[in-house]
Amino acid sequence: MKIACIGVGKVGFAIADNLQKKGHQIIVANDNVDSASVQKALLRNSYFSVKAVQVAIDEADIILLAVPFAQNESLLTKLHFNGKILVDCTNPVGAGLTHGLKSEISGSECVQRWASDARVVKAYTIYGFENFVDSKFPKYNVKPVMMIAGNDKRAKEIVVEINNDMGFDTLDTGTLDQSLHLEHLTLLWVKMTRRDGHHPNFVWAYLEK
Ligand SMILES: NC(=O)c1ccc[n+]([C@@H]2O[C@H](COP(=O)([O-])OP(=O)(O)OC[C@H]3O[C@@H](n4cnc5c(N)ncnc54)[C@H](OP(=O)(O)O)[C@@H]3O)[C@@H](O)[C@H]2O)c1
Repeated sequence: MKIACIGVGKVGFAIADNLQKKGHQIIVANDNVDSASVQKALLRNSYFSVKAVQVAIDEADIILLAVPFAQNESLLTKLHFNGKILVDCTNPVGAGLTHGLKSEISGSECVQRWASDARVVKAYTIYGFENFVDSKFPKYNVKPVMMIAGNDKRAKEIVVEINNDMGFDTLDTGTLDQSLHLEHLTLLWVKMTRRDGHHPNFVWAYLEK
């Protein structure tokens, strides 16, 4: 697939690099080709191309959003998605690792409001970027799970395909409002690792009888 990546910092690059190595075509979407993160990404993976954000969206089959949450509104409200899938990898994080929207609404529902002509799927937020660089856990007979949420069934099926390529099982948690709970799960993971010293290469698994 042709995948546009808005944001190629820690998390955006990890996902894009993993997917490029699985045969996907990555277009880095940034209006500033000279930005430090874009230049660093191009040095690390010479198969990436870079285009202006709207051009990249127009060319892509699917778009990954991996910018600081505070950038979302000004960025998204000027873009057109024409019904394309927008994978929201962003998390609203407030002071003291709290939910940045006071747990009143999920970040992904806001993303859907700002990108009203996109089909938003929440994914790739419940772990740190380390687990997108390498999602293999060879000591175990199960794959890590990627929990997703979204209102469009077909959009979620496409995200499942990408998850498979990245080495994840998928747990579809339901409609986009479930993102609020995924964002709290993120805070749990972040507090355990970044604050309390738990090893960052730990993941959740889905076991069902
Ligand atoms: N870090 C993690 O482990 C992790 C895990 C899961 C989810 N997340 C979420 O993912 C998002 C990104 O986190 P990060 O740690 O990867 O941040 P980061 O390393 O600071 O990277 C941010 C990226 O966003 C780009 N960006 C910002 N504004 C932009 C715009 N208007 N147009 C295009 N690109 C723009 C930056 O490009 P420039 O250099 O040009 O500014 C940079 O490539 C956050 O919402 C975070 O909560 C992070």
